[in-house]
Amino acid sequence: MDKIVVRGGVSLRGEVVVSGAKNAALPLLFASLLTEEECRLNRVPQLVDIRTALRLLRDLGVQYDWLSDSQVALSARSVQHCEAPYELVKTMRASFLVLGPLLARFGRARVSTPGGCAIGTRPVNIHLDGLQQLGASIRVHHGYVEAEAKQLRGTHIVLDFPSVGATENLMMAATLAAGTTVIENAACEPEIEDLAAMLNAMGAQVSGAGSHTVTIEGVEALHGTTHEVIPDRVEAGTFLIAGAITSGNVFVRGARADHLATFLGKLRETGTHLEEGPEGIRVIGNGRPSSVDILTQPYPEFPTDLQAQMMALLCLGDSRSVITETIFENRFLHAQELVRLGADIRIHGNTAVIDGVALLDGAPVMATDLRASVSLILAGLTAQGHTEISRVYHLDRGYERIEEKLSQLGADITRVKNKE
Ligand code: UD1
Repeated sequence: MDKIVVRGGVSLRGEVVVSGAKNAALPLLFASLLTEEECRLNRVPQLVDIRTALRLLRDLGVQYDWLSDSQVALSARSVQHCEAPYELVKTMRASFLVLGPLLARFGRARVSTPGGCAIGTRPVNIHLDGLQQLGASIRVHHGYVEAEAKQLRGTHIVLDFPSVGATENLMMAATLAAGTTVIENAACEPEIEDLAAMLNAMGAQVSGAGSHTVTIEGVEALHGTTHEVIPDRVEAGTFLIAGAITSGNVFVRGARADHLATFLGKLRETGTHLEEGPEGIRVIGNGRPSSVDILTQPYPEFPTDLQAQMMALLCLGDSRSVITETIFENRFLHAQELVRLGADIRIHGNTAVIDGVALLDGAPVMATDLRASVSLILAGLTAQGHTEISRVYHLDRGYERIEEKLSQLGADITRVKNKE
């Protein structure tokens, strides 16, 4: 497996452009299953997870073409079967999002259950409860969810928790249901709004996306459209922390302040200078950050997907920070690796107590999941000497050309390809 080697100590400077959001692009790609007409997506990032989604769609019979390196055209005119196999769902949990669209358009679907992952057990009960309420009969058999419904019927659904994936699956399923569906306690992440925008451009009638109550008036059929994926708020936040942690001066083009409000508030509290504008956000790092406390919660609160990166910054805090992770049960795997770099972190259940140190010290470390990998890169950018991060394949699932983008900002970062 490839390794990334970072030599710390360079203040990052210049401009970096944010790619399209992985977590928006994945459901948008799967939404193409809802129509027999062609859909085109612009600003699609080149990532392993996107290729996994396309592999799954091709396996189902969807034809796709890359029209440029960020534009893909998809046609689900002749879907061959409605089964998503274990091999693909286990490598990427978001593959489970084919369930709603397949069921809505073809009346049946057989999708592997995703199983656990490094950061927790991650069940799909909320997706299944909602689909049952829409009238689907659901059986879980030999590790597969088998769902059937001649015609889904609109209904009133109250989610137990504002799950992002469940909201997306149910929204897609409800577009072709008979009658009106109301989803209460829906997730209101920007990616949900982006999905609603594409569905509406396909002829669906979705309102309220971005709030906790989403209403979907079912329609008979959807048509093709062209849609541009929103910029990746997690990638944007990661580059803003890169600027802060290196006491740099970086313009993050495409970063949307309206998608990052709580995060930006916390970053400001660390003493980092931020200038928000219509084209992006400039970050000017200010030496050692002030320690702050973080509580991850569903949008619009602090995102769990930026928790690991923020922890890297807070390792250098001027006193004590407390991070409480409420979304995933096991999302502190990066902490033990940050400790290898000289950080002072203690974990008590879902709480991390970080006593800031003046300096981190490069060392070999291991990436455990996507956001953990990038937090180690961020720490490496400021650590003394070399930090060597192994198992970086996680990184390629969610960050487009990250070494290239950081190098352009002056970072001393290289990928060592495994020749095996
Ligand atoms: C999405 C994001 C992921 C992000 C997460 C939370 C994508 C592709 N991924 O994941 O990057 O970290 O939102 O912002 O968009 N849960 C259940 N039952 C369910 C569904 C979820 O108990 O049926 C639990 C999960 O185990 C987890 C929590 O709810 O603890 C949040 O999950 P959810 O919001 O569904 O996240 P994902 O859609 O999987």
